[in-house]
Formats: sequence, structure tokens, C-alpha cells
Amino acid sequence: AFPRCPPRARAAVTSLVPGRTEPWVAEAARRGALIFGDVGWDETGRWDLDALSGLEHCHAFLPNAEEAMRYTRTDCPRSAAHALAERVPLAVVTLGSEGAYAVDAATGTAAEVPAIEVEALDPTGAGDVFVAGFVTGTLAGWPLADRLAFAGLTAALSVQEFGGSLSAPGWAEIAAWWQQVRTCAGQDPAALRRYAFLDDLLPAAARPWPLRRAVPTIGFRA
Ligand SMILES: Nc1ncnc2c1ncn2[C@@H]1O[C@H](COP(=O)(O)OP(=O)(O)OP(=O)(O)O)[C@@H](O)[C@H]1O
Ligand SMILES: [Mg+2]
Repeated sequence: AFPRCPPRARAAVTSLVPGRTEPWVAEAARRGALIFGDVGWDETGRWDLDALSGLEHCHAFLPNAEEAMRYTRTDCPRSAAHALAERVPLAVVTLGSEGAYAVDAATGTAAEVPAIEVEALDPTGAGDVFVAGFVTGTLAGWPLADRLAFAGLTAALSVQEFGGSLSAPGWAEIAAWWQQVRTCAGQDPAALRRYAFLDDLLPAAARPWPLRRAVPTIGFRA
């Protein structure tokens, strides 16, 4: 059976579904977990933030651009992020191949980081990998822009592989990417500097990139 509440943790991720209450969210928040709220397409078509039970417990809310605009009745993802920051301490709007934009309600600051350019093979799980990367950077106490860059990098690396969780990169893969882009000719130095924070995180000896990885064996039709 699924436990009523996850074990005590520093962070938890919940998928907010209109009209559905997950009682563990309030309990986990009360026990000190930072709650990260993901969301998806609203099948009811109502796009009502008040129907997202649990949003009030979220430290961060991470819709994609379309979802953010529909929930806030805005026509631009950045305006949507500012509107959402009136409901949650941290609003993060993902912009697909354009990156992500976030507003920190406490400080009133916004940050935007463009995506890295990759050949997108399979977008499955990009949102999930983004959230996982963002949680990682938040627990590590990184600045907002570094967290967006890291989350976006992990998500971008995942879309160039097939699969959802199987395509999420590990540290060795991130190290290999960082080593590779720094040795590519013609890189924009300012763009490279956005990822310089990786220097303090990654093992010095990187493996060659791209890495061989497990191939998902489900979900394909001939
Ligand atoms: N084609 C791409 N190139 C580079 N990065 C991408 C691409 N697609 C997605 N990403 C990264 O993944 C993040 C999440 O993608 P997106 O905004 O499409 O979320 P989503 O629609 O919620 O995804 P999902 O369908 O997995 O829920 C983006 O902010 C970006 O960092
Ligand atoms: Mg999503």
C-alpha cells in the first residue's frame, strides 16, 4: 500500500490536479518539507487556481507557459509568472525550448535562463526532470538563476534521449557535457559563464560524451 504520508524529507514534489486533495501535502509541509507543485493540462477546462488544492502549501509552483497563462488569464508567460508569485513564494514557468522564467515573491526578483540548444528527440519527462533539477539546486541553496540553468540543462539533456526517467542525466553526464561545450569552438563566452557554477560541483575527470545508456524497451510500437 502507498504510505499515507512520505517519510520526513527536506522536499517533496506533488502533481496538483484540479479538485483533488492529497492530504499528505499539508502534513509534509507541516513537518518542514519544501513542497514543489507540478501541474498538467486541466481536463475540466476551468483553469481555476482555487481548484488546485495544495497550492497553498507549495514553496514553488512550476507550470509550463501554456498552463501558467491559462491559470492566470494572461497572454504572456512572464506576466503569468508574476501573477502566480502572488499565490506562491516561488513561481517558475517553463518555456520549452526557450528555457524558463521565475519570480521570487519574497524578494520580488525575476530570473530568466534560456535553454541550451539540443536536438529534441523525445520531450517526454522534460517537465519532471526540470523539477528534479530545480529541487536539487534549491536544497543546495543556489541562486535562482543557477537553479534555472541547472534544471534546464538536466531537462535539455533528457529530451535528446528517448524515455522519461531513463533519460534523466546523472552527474557524470553533466560533467561530460560541461567538458564538451567548453572545448567547442565559437561558443558565446557569456553563455558559458552562466554554467560556471558547475566547476565547483563536478568531478574533474569526465567521461566522454554522449554516454551510452540503457534504452527503454516499453512504449514503442513498430
Ligand atoms: N527542445 C528543448 N530544448 C531544450 N530544452 C528543453 C526543450 N524542451 C524542454 N526543455 C527544457 O525542459 C523544461 C520543461 O519543458 P516544458 O516547458 O516543455 O515543460 P512541460 O510542457 O511541462 O513538459 P512535460 O510535457 O514533460 O510536462 C524547459 O523549461 C526547458 O528547460
Ligand atoms: Mg508539465
